[in-house]
Amino acid sequence: MNIQENYSLKKLNTFHIDASAKYFCEVASIEDIKEVLSADKFWKQSKLILGGGSNLLFTKDFDGIVIKNNLKGINLIKEDIDFYYVKAGAGEVWHQLVMHCINNNYAGLENLSLIPGNVGASPMQNIGAYGSEIKDSFYQLEAFHLNDKTIHTFNNADCKFGYRESVFKHEFKNQFIITSVTFKLNKNPLYNIKYGAIEKELETMGVKDLSIQAISKAVCNIRNSKLPNPEVIGNAGSFFKNPEISKSKYESLKNEFNDIVGYDLENGNVKLAAGWLIEQCGWKGKSFGDAGVHKLQALVLVNYANAKGNEIFDLSEKIMNSVKEKFGVDLEREVNII
Ligand code: FAD
Ligand code: EPU
Repeated sequence: MNIQENYSLKKLNTFHIDASAKYFCEVASIEDIKEVLSADKFWKQSKLILGGGSNLLFTKDFDGIVIKNNLKGINLIKEDIDFYYVKAGAGEVWHQLVMHCINNNYAGLENLSLIPGNVGASPMQNIGAYGSEIKDSFYQLEAFHLNDKTIHTFNNADCKFGYRESVFKHEFKNQFIITSVTFKLNKNPLYNIKYGAIEKELETMGVKDLSIQAISKAVCNIRNSKLPNPEVIGNAGSFFKNPEISKSKYESLKNEFNDIVGYDLENGNVKLAAGWLIEQCGWKGKSFGDAGVHKLQALVLVNYANAKGNEIFDLSEKIMNSVKEKFGVDLEREVNII
């Protein structure tokens, strides 16, 4: 096992923050994981499991061991009348898994095309976009417990999925390395184009016969039109979650701010578009040195070149304060702060 010291993480996080890890290694198998953790020197260190680094903000160097998960493999492990069960290694690139499923007519992940990052983080975050979340297609996952050093299996209910939430962000935080995820994918596609922008894009594309291929292409087109490509401008997608407020609070805000953007939730509450709140506070397109708010999407904070993680964090703090002051609404960060 090659364990490196003072290892630069700049190319391994999509914000391109210049942070380093005291120790760094890549694991490609369960045996590799066991080997790293068997050495007393590394076992005692704080541990950070790294996927594609697309939902992290480093505000300092990591004083411990960063374990980059490279467990690979995509396999159809079983099928029944209605479903295919596809198991993917945690180190597979998410979009490559989506493309594999689309090419084989396994339906369910098409609305989640082009989300950056790896398979292992997808249940951690319950990634979502364009009317779908992975919980809708998730079957089970396997995860290595850092203390008892055995593999545990979690089914859908065990993961306690919520909006960008799972058990791995709370009671099991920092306790498991997710090693594989199995998805239950439809043989007969259930097309989900309720997210208005998809329908409009399909029309523009001139699509007559709906297919998972067409939906995936439409989603990719929409994403490319508004989200900055991290290869070009450092970012980690939405920096904050869209906040949930009560219907009565929404109604009183609506009286004051007639064009406020909110969506009714099944529980009676309303989810507000945080991008709208941030834009109304005047942040859209603003930059302070190399740290800024994207000009097309106010929910996305960016690193134009050499911003420090703390500068981006401080900007996020100012945004949260001004949204609280103007609307009385608390924003919560989606990005994991290290
Ligand atoms: P990382 O950033 O490497 O890690 C994220 C967290 O998961 C960390 O806490 C890490 O320790 C933990 N982790 C990672 N792998 C494992 C593992 N194997 N076991 C245990 N813990 C692990 N997200 C959405 O939901 N929807 C979107 O539409 C979306 N759009 C985005 C657009 C852009 C341009 C960018 C840059 C990001 C976007 N994101 C979106 C956020 C991001 O892509 C997802 O959160 C993604 O799942 C992160 O995957 P990752 O492998 O990069 O995770
Ligand atoms: N809006 C503005 N100004 C802005 C940005 C947005 O007014 O600068 C308003 C617009 O009215 C727009 C609405 O907000 O109609 C919603 O914007 P958008 O469709 O871009 O989606 P979002 O709510 O900003 C969420 C997710 C994204 C996901 C998209 C598509 C969160 C925190 N973000 O963004 O996920 O891709 O919907 O489903 O839920 C991510 O999690 O990193 C992420 C990018």
